[in-house]
Amino acid sequence: MSQEAWNRLALLYGHQYRPPRDAFYWGPGVTDEALGLLGDLKGRRVLDAGCGAGFNTVWLARAGAEAYGVDFSEAQLAYALRLAFTQGARAEFVLARLEALPYPDASFDLVVSTFALHYVPDLEAAFREARRVLKPSGRYVFSLDHPARAIHDGLPYLEEGPLRWRWRAEGVEVPMISYHRTLETLTRTLRAVGLHLEGLYEPKPQGPDPFLKGPEAQAYLEGQVPYTLIMEARA
Ligand SMILES: C[S@@+](CC[C@H](N)C(=O)[O-])C[C@H]1O[C@@H](n2cnc3c(N)ncnc32)[C@H](O)[C@@H]1O
Repeated sequence: MSQEAWNRLALLYGHQYRPPRDAFYWGPGVTDEALGLLGDLKGRRVLDAGCGAGFNTVWLARAGAEAYGVDFSEAQLAYALRLAFTQGARAEFVLARLEALPYPDASFDLVVSTFALHYVPDLEAAFREARRVLKPSGRYVFSLDHPARAIHDGLPYLEEGPLRWRWRAEGVEVPMISYHRTLETLTRTLRAVGLHLEGLYEPKPQGPDPFLKGPEAQAYLEGQVPYTLIMEARA
């Protein structure tokens, strides 16, 4: 269901939601420029887990990383391949699930994942796979919907589980399922797979972004409500 939803959304995602700037985006309006979480990328093997249309993967490749992108939507990957080709970036894209990564143990220096993990039903499996493919002391840095957005949406924060909603934009409407998890669950699950939490970031959007539209956008732009949560862990 979720894979089908992402195939249907790909046209909208790849076309309408192109990042406004050439940068690595952790979330809407949040680039790595200010945060500096990626570190030195030259020659590093970096996996972009849930790469979608490949905006970040291509940026990583152009920044000197040996970049790999994984996503379970063939339609999203078609955009990613075209983007890499048009930008002359060398990046490898593979169709796979975050819960079963097609790479040997200890393959990557860095695994990044932006706004994909809240769509994965088995978070522990995705964390375990990230841990497995990381080299010893490799870093896992991921962003996702800030769990406190649930409160902003009038949902009970402590009640975890699937959220059923509709992605409505530009005349497109697609039923979606995402998974609300508390900060406690996120940190406990990292620990359960042997990942050590080293940092937690709640950045305010640095400026406008195609995702920050509508009446709620102002609340995010002014920092009244957090939108993006970033966690940094080490294997
Ligand atoms: C909101 S998009 C984010 C894409 C990209 N990381 C970005 O920041 O633009 C979420 C992506 O996660 C992918 N995804 C969701 N669940 C997945 C899973 N279990 N395995 C692999 N990819 C998944 C979707 O296909 C979609 O491309």
